[in-house]
Amino acid sequence: MNAPPLSGRIAVVTGGAEGIGAAIAQRLHREGAEIVVADVQRDKGEALARELGGAFALLDVAQEEGWDRLLDAHARLDILVNNAGVNKGPAPFESLSYAHWRETLAVNLDGAFLGCRAGVRAMASRGGNIVNIGSGAGVRAVGEMAAYTASKAGVHALTRAAAAYCGRRGYKIRCNAVLPGSVETPMVSRLRGQTGDAAAARARIVERHPIGFVGEGDDIAAMVAFLVSDEARFITGALMCVDGGLTI
Ligand SMILES: NC(=O)c1ccc[n+]([C@@H]2O[C@H](COP(=O)([O-])OP(=O)(O)OC[C@H]3O[C@@H](n4cnc5c(N)ncnc54)[C@H](O)[C@@H]3O)[C@@H](O)[C@H]2O)c1
Repeated sequence: MNAPPLSGRIAVVTGGAEGIGAAIAQRLHREGAEIVVADVQRDKGEALARELGGAFALLDVAQEEGWDRLLDAHARLDILVNNAGVNKGPAPFESLSYAHWRETLAVNLDGAFLGCRAGVRAMASRGGNIVNIGSGAGVRAVGEMAAYTASKAGVHALTRAAAAYCGRRGYKIRCNAVLPGSVETPMVSRLRGQTGDAAAARARIVERHPIGFVGEGDDIAAMVAFLVSDEARFITGALMCVDGGLTI
């Protein structure tokens, strides 16, 4: 019997305790990787890490020192999925607070930068794969979510810069992004809850996806698993839409 495609590889998934990150952790585990679930939520993160026979790391992606501790604790790193992100919900542009903007950019963009930098440092000599989770919202702007939209567009640009840098340096590191459309997760159900009429909000969301339904975590995880596999050896700097046509 053949070994699973990712066996022997160590994968860190940020924001891996629930939602899309948990689906990615489960998928990479099924493909044979050893999983480190990195999250600010200890209980859920530890429970999933136990289930997968992996490790948990308490990590706030926006804190530089946390990344240093993570690298110290896990000497080798083959796959890094920068998935952790926040969406603080819609706000009119005029009253969008600077705190809302800063917090969104700190987690979504600073966190992805600190992650990419840690990944490049850890993988420069042996090679590896970085996957950033962007968003369809970074392509098709959502006017009421300026901070989220801008943070994700930044993640897309960061992905391409890191890919170009690593390629030209001769590092065997590929860096790609997956841009999900709407996926049923705790984040999306929280946002729906803020609207007052969750059923109508869901219908509106579905309506924006030409395919006629919203995604599941494993739809995104499948693309991540492909991107980190050797089958994707010629793919770097790509922004892969997995969005049911949202950004068409
Ligand atoms: N769900 C969607 O429809 C959707 C669409 C496009 C993009 N995305 C992106 O996918 C990623 C995952 O989203 P989700 O819907 O699963 O979200 P979620 O809120 O359901 O889960 C996010 C996870 O990230 C963790 N997290 C939050 N801040 C963190 C931090 N500072 N450091 C470490 N961990 C942190 C949370 O504890 C949680 O486990 C995010 O980057 C999000 O922007 C989601």
